Amino acid sequence: MSELAILGGPKTRTEPYPQWPVWDQRDIDAVTEVIKSGRWGGYPYPGPKTAELAEKFAELQGGGYAVPMINGTVTMEVALRAAGVGWGDEVIVPAYTFQATASAPMAAGAIPVIVDVDPNTYCLDANAAARAITPKTKAIIPVHLGSNMADMDAIMVLARSAKYNLIVIEDCAHAHGAKWNGQGAGTIGHFGSFSLQSSKTLTSGEGGILLCKTPELAAKAASIIDCGRPHALGGGPEDPNGLSLMGANYRLSELQAALALAGIERFPAQAKQREQMAAYMDESLSEIPGVRLMKRDPRHTTRSFYRYIFAIDPQQFGMEHDVLCAALDAEGIDSWTGYEAMHNYELFQPQKSTLAVPSAFPEYFKFEEMNLPEATRACEHEAVWLDEAVFRAGPKGVDDAVEAIRKVQKNALELNKAADELRERYR
Ligand SMILES: Cc1ncc(COP(=O)(O)O)c(C=O)c1O
Repeated sequence: MSELAILGGPKTRTEPYPQWPVWDQRDIDAVTEVIKSGRWGGYPYPGPKTAELAEKFAELQGGGYAVPMINGTVTMEVALRAAGVGWGDEVIVPAYTFQATASAPMAAGAIPVIVDVDPNTYCLDANAAARAITPKTKAIIPVHLGSNMADMDAIMVLARSAKYNLIVIEDCAHAHGAKWNGQGAGTIGHFGSFSLQSSKTLTSGEGGILLCKTPELAAKAASIIDCGRPHALGGGPEDPNGLSLMGANYRLSELQAALALAGIERFPAQAKQREQMAAYMDESLSEIPGVRLMKRDPRHTTRSFYRYIFAIDPQQFGMEHDVLCAALDAEGIDSWTGYEAMHNYELFQPQKSTLAVPSAFPEYFKFEEMNLPEATRACEHEAVWLDEAVFRAGPKGVDDAVEAIRKVQKNALELNKAADELRERYR
């Protein structure tokens, strides 16, 4: 019998990894309190739990004016609209990210200009961003991907340059608690966009928080998400003398805010454990031939772990990443080859889309002509994403993952022979 679970052998890990989200009596009490209060929704905005969440979240990230809302996609659309970015403006986004990073500019009427990523972090390459700037460029959205951060120093220098003066929106859907030079993710650019969707390391089931650099931007954001009502500076309550911009109902409900508040209490201990276990994972994986760890920039002072990403050199490791991930899943280690590169998303293909932006500006969506070698290499051959649950399972969780990776590599010959059939099964 084969040693490999995918070919009928025994699994490396039989015990499931710990589930997410984690909850306890605090969540039940918090939601019960809101239910009994009768104030379930988000109007008038912000409700008491939402206001408390805004305060505690800004504290957690170390700055900014927080405006909670319905998800971490709308956050970016609202940021662009609050900053006055709209129809026909260009917004630079990385090629390797979730589609929301590009669909949000389109929802605001802007054009996502897709550029390549840095192979050391798989985050936006600041040099590629610099080359993509034109007189129509108004904003950049760097994504802090998995557990890495984009080079915020280089991006801010570029954005602040007298020639450009660009708006920077950090997509921090994966970066709760992360710090760059000691400064919280999402507080470096003009905006930080956070998702509270159920898989994220701080969650309310669904939800999002926009951190704004100035009280004016926060007031505008609060107005946009509250049907255009005028809001006080800092995103505070409705105020007839406040700022107002056209909007819709994107308010977070009080029930969701209560869940996020309970999650914030648990967050520091969880983040610490993930960080400690990730250091152990780095050490263990670095000994495996053909594994390339993401390069940790010393300015990335606190790492946060939504997903742990590493790369393999398929030749040296002995197989392609999709074969490895299929075999790891069978071994009881949840793994994934990661996001599609942005130019592979059918959603944005002008010939397949009735969205206003690709239809009006098809010249920006000639995906077959785009040269994005690093994002393509990551998504087609190299990247391996592990779930943060590996770290919540403690040293044994890491040991099992590493043992499974070694086992799969040791049996590469046998596995590759069955690879075509396995690929079918994995898809
Ligand atoms: C990088 C990135 N940006 C934005 C989002 C969108 O967040 P939401 O699902 O809350 O809209 C996600 C969600 O997975 C994401 O991974």
